[in-house]
Amino acid sequence: EGLHSLMVAAGKLFFGTATDTNLFNDTAYQSIATNANEFGLHVPENSQKWQPTEPVEGQFDFVNPDTVASRARAQGQMFRCHTLTWHSQLPNFVQTTQWTRETLTLAIQTHITNTVTHFKGQCYSWDVVNEALNDNGTMRNDVFFRTLGTDYLAISFLAARAADPGAKLYYNDFNLETLQAKADGAVRIIQLLQQQQQSTSGAVVTPVVDGVGFQAHFNVGQTPNKTSLMATMSRFVAMGLEVSFSELDIAHTRLPATEAALRQQAEDYVTVVDACLSTPRCVGITVWEFTDKYSWIPSTFPGEGDACLFSANMTRKPAYSSVSSFLASA
Ligand code: G3I
Repeated sequence: EGLHSLMVAAGKLFFGTATDTNLFNDTAYQSIATNANEFGLHVPENSQKWQPTEPVEGQFDFVNPDTVASRARAQGQMFRCHTLTWHSQLPNFVQTTQWTRETLTLAIQTHITNTVTHFKGQCYSWDVVNEALNDNGTMRNDVFFRTLGTDYLAISFLAARAADPGAKLYYNDFNLETLQAKADGAVRIIQLLQQQQQSTSGAVVTPVVDGVGFQAHFNVGQTPNKTSLMATMSRFVAMGLEVSFSELDIAHTRLPATEAALRQQAEDYVTVVDACLSTPRCVGITVWEFTDKYSWIPSTFPGEGDACLFSANMTRKPAYSSVSSFLASA
């Protein structure tokens, strides 16, 4: 039995992983990634972002994320979609055009309408807005905020909802789990969107926002405890939303990892899984790659890493065994 099967047996929707087409010719990697009992959901790690999908204004390319989606479907896996309005991995034209409110609104709507329509019916959820906040809870001063203020949030969510009413629409961010001020900022974002929803119609309306994704990029020994994780998630559940851990990995800040550090990593992974299982509206967990071979961390934080459930040579680490036995006993 794999992690996904165990997670489903424990009442959740998925245990998934990020992956992408650049890894599809690594056969050892693929034999694990394609096992639907192990990972029941795939999300493109990069190929569905704005830069690769609309590199030139109005010219769309969905070949790579289509491949991720069609293989997931063929393997009986769910598909999660990532991401639409984000300050990083933007095409040049978004960064260099002298936008007005009107032209940037149209550019966001064009990108979201085309992209979400293309994948209509295939996405369990969309990360509609990603990482809009600074760590202190204020809005990130990116091209969207500079031009549109917080209006870009509702513009994005409304365009996504119109293009695929069946996909769950998420706000996704990191450090919400550890920084109270940043979680406060996310609460304000959800409140803004929910007010927008009320002001567009007096009658019963479909919620504009459905969920919050907690990226859960943690460090070994510094992972928040279960009580703290549950308390943060409950703030959003209380606002009517579902939640998930959307990009889980737990990095060693010192390498090579000692035996003790590997045990601590295993304990930290179990803490996160436990917090999800104990939160009825936590629908699932996605790891941001499952092997140390392809983790994003070493290139961003040199000297750190080995954050995944499988080693670089694809063996199961203590963290894998602990999560697996924890789920089996849940
Ligand atoms: O595709 C180009 C390639 O053409 C070029 O030759 C090569 C040389 O640097 O770069 C390639 O682009 C890289 C891209 O990944 C695809 O491999 C970028 O340099 C690299 O910066 C990019 O990193 C990604 C990062 O997002 C970008 O911000 C990571 O793989 C990806 O794991 C990471 O994922 C993010 C989530 O989307 C949002 N949350 C945080 C998370 C981790 O940073």
